[in-house]
Amino acid sequence: MLPRSSSRDERHLELDKRAGEAASVIRKFAAEKSPILLVTHFDADGISAGSVILAAVKRLGAPAHLRAIDNLSEKVLEELEDVEADLAIFTDIGSGYLSIIGKALRHKEIVIADHHQALGEQPPNSHHFNTHLLGFDGSVEISGAGTAYLLAKALDPQNKDLAPMALVGCLGDQQDKGPKRTFTGLNEGILRDAVEMKLVEVAQDLILFGRQTRPVHRAIASTTTPFLPGLSGEEDRCLALLDAADISTKVDDRWRTIVDLSMEEKRRLVDKIIQHTISLRMSGEVALELVGNVYTLTREGPWTPLRDAREFATLLNACGRMGKAGLGIALGLGDRGAAFEEAQRVYAEYRKGLAKYMNWLTGDPSVLRQKGHVVMVRGEGVIDENMTGAISSLVSSSNLFGGSKVTLVVTSTKDGQAKVSARATDQLVAKGVNLGKFLQDLSPNYGGNGGGHAIAAGATLESERLDKFLEEFGRIIDSVVS
Ligand code: C5P
Ligand code: C5P
Ligand code: ZN
Repeated sequence: MLPRSSSRDERHLELDKRAGEAASVIRKFAAEKSPILLVTHFDADGISAGSVILAAVKRLGAPAHLRAIDNLSEKVLEELEDVEADLAIFTDIGSGYLSIIGKALRHKEIVIADHHQALGEQPPNSHHFNTHLLGFDGSVEISGAGTAYLLAKALDPQNKDLAPMALVGCLGDQQDKGPKRTFTGLNEGILRDAVEMKLVEVAQDLILFGRQTRPVHRAIASTTTPFLPGLSGEEDRCLALLDAADISTKVDDRWRTIVDLSMEEKRRLVDKIIQHTISLRMSGEVALELVGNVYTLTREGPWTPLRDAREFATLLNACGRMGKAGLGIALGLGDRGAAFEEAQRVYAEYRKGLAKYMNWLTGDPSVLRQKGHVVMVRGEGVIDENMTGAISSLVSSSNLFGGSKVTLVVTSTKDGQAKVSARATDQLVAKGVNLGKFLQDLSPNYGGNGGGHAIAAGATLESERLDKFLEEFGRIIDSVVS
């Protein structure tokens, strides 16, 4: 492993070397026309990563089969071992599960291209391309899709045209954490590739969902990153806010969109949103996240949500979490028409589901428990196991609880296990909170597994041991933070 203190050149050289090694393994199997199994995570970044690597492998003419999964358990791995393929490529998942992958996939060659914190012994039949281990922070500088893109580029420089999907993935993982929602680290290089190829254009604007496609009040109400309490999901209140800001919603009979507003109107709108959040006794800072870089995918049809890279990511996230990862992959590979129509329907359902959960958890005080530095949502029997991550991200970004807290969303799985999704804040990470590491270390003591990034992580545990786990987790967070 190369520490972050190594020089930039050293880290880049090692990165190219590791990507080259993994690429030569893939090329060898592809040349033999050997079936290849692709395994990817089911969220927006994972679907983008899967699309990138599937496109690259198809271009080599190899027969490939892709599976999107939410978690790497021994059971899932046994099923993967049964798939007829000599090579398995993991993207956006795998590095945290090296030992169990090695045990289960004994008869396959393995390539892992991931940006998560790693754990376990690297299996002898594997090639591990992990950008985080190479000294590039996998929570902000490079996503799973970005890592898959670097591998695709090592396979063939012509794969540079896949850069837009790598950016969609990194936006899905919320890696636009530089000033004014810019990219940093390796993500910046990927953006350069995409801009050079004229596939992506960068501009500054208000970052509201449906910036080019939705009436302004609906764009504000549809925005959930960050979650704006009292506005997200509340179209009527957004209309009232526009009225108070003296911004007309229509020209003649046509609804205006964010891109139709003048600079002065945009400024008034942000000021009103800041006043609104302050009136709820929250910091107005959250509204500043609404101004920054927007990334336009130039090849996408005008007036479609896919043209905005963030909205593309939201659509993919909806597909994955609603059990339609295959549809997301189709979009990632360039299918439009019926696939796009279907994705929009899935997205509408996803939004309805999220709004229902948010109403439930803000309407019933007993659902939310705050203790020390942890805010917990007990969603057993209510929250779908695939939705915990999305809800945890929403609650965490909502600032509903003031101050910097760890958010933990808990539910039960259909197999009777407990599932948790944890989110921290930049301030807590700066104080030493590393959720991925804590969950990686703790979960095996409670009959499960876990991992992820410092700021966002998850775990599956034995239900009977959940309460004890939660106690220990809370103690660890409080001891690190205070
Ligand atoms: O497995 P993967 O790395 O793709 O997932 C990271 C998850 O963490 C994503 O669902 C992303 O939205 C979430 N995240 C978050 N807050 C951050 C960074 C990531 O909720 N600040
Ligand atoms: O499921 P959730 O969105 O909360 O996952 C957050 C992060 O934690 C993701 O990067 C995911 O890959 C990781 N994770 C993990 N092991 C688990 C659950 C989640 O590494 N058992
Ligand atoms: Zn990821």
